[in-house]
Amino acid sequence: MYTLIDGKKTAAEIRHEIAAEVKKRMEAGLKIPHLAAILVGNDGASETYMANKIKDCSEVGFKSSLIRFDNNVPEKTLIEKIIELNYDDDVDGFIVQLPLPAHLSENSVIEAIDPKKDADGFHPVNIGKMVLGIPGFLPATPYGIVELIKRYKIETRGKSCIVIGRSNIVGRPVSILLSQKGMDATVTVAHSRTADIGSLISRSDIVIAALGSPHFIKASMIKEGAVVFDVGTTRIKDSAGEKGWKLAGDVDFENVAPKCSFITPVPGGVGPMTRVSLLRNTLLAVTLREAGK
Ligand code: GUN
Repeated sequence: MYTLIDGKKTAAEIRHEIAAEVKKRMEAGLKIPHLAAILVGNDGASETYMANKIKDCSEVGFKSSLIRFDNNVPEKTLIEKIIELNYDDDVDGFIVQLPLPAHLSENSVIEAIDPKKDADGFHPVNIGKMVLGIPGFLPATPYGIVELIKRYKIETRGKSCIVIGRSNIVGRPVSILLSQKGMDATVTVAHSRTADIGSLISRSDIVIAALGSPHFIKASMIKEGAVVFDVGTTRIKDSAGEKGWKLAGDVDFENVAPKCSFITPVPGGVGPMTRVSLLRNTLLAVTLREAGK
């Protein structure tokens, strides 16, 4: 029998902890943390992320603001806004929702963000610190996965882990975190050019699927007792549902789950933890600023 890793419940617990922290700050006359977000265009999935992020902020007592730009915003205009937020003392942390339209350079946009306000932990300075094991802002999804590992007391030391996907925001950073001292997993990063991926997966104790291909991971690939994190959130057609779509993970959950010791569902697994990481990074940003760091 497997344990379902309930990201929704864990994220709600963490939001309670953050809300208590915010209450203490208010009582001490300290600043209410403020998370801002920039959204370019009106991609459906990004709109949903944004609405949830704003709801999360109000639930924990953070101030939040949303800055919108049209799909065809010039890069210069976007970067000017980022610089304005960098200098805005009321804003403690902010994010730029990804993906961006093709005419905008994600790297240039991310590099314009003040690393001290980088609630997503995507800036090269923060990625560099993460690689070196220096405490700081961690990328939101990897941070959420690590927190689930800790709270569910999942053993990673000496375990073989395969990360499928090498994106800058999930695959690459989570592979680094899991191989670090303290986590101590032996990590393989697989990607679209990996040969015989099935046999690599079937030898792995921990599987982190972040490739964005619905139900790619089948039961036949999974080792008995494996731990599976499903980061996939692809919208697929669902004519029965009122929205007309539903979220599909990268894992064929129904058939894979019975072979697992732990597994995350989609939705309600990694996703809510990503959002809570933003709140944690924003709280860290405000406390570091107060400490003059
Ligand atoms: N798009 C998908 N996931 C994320 C995330 O964690 N942060 C941002 N900014 N955009 C995303």
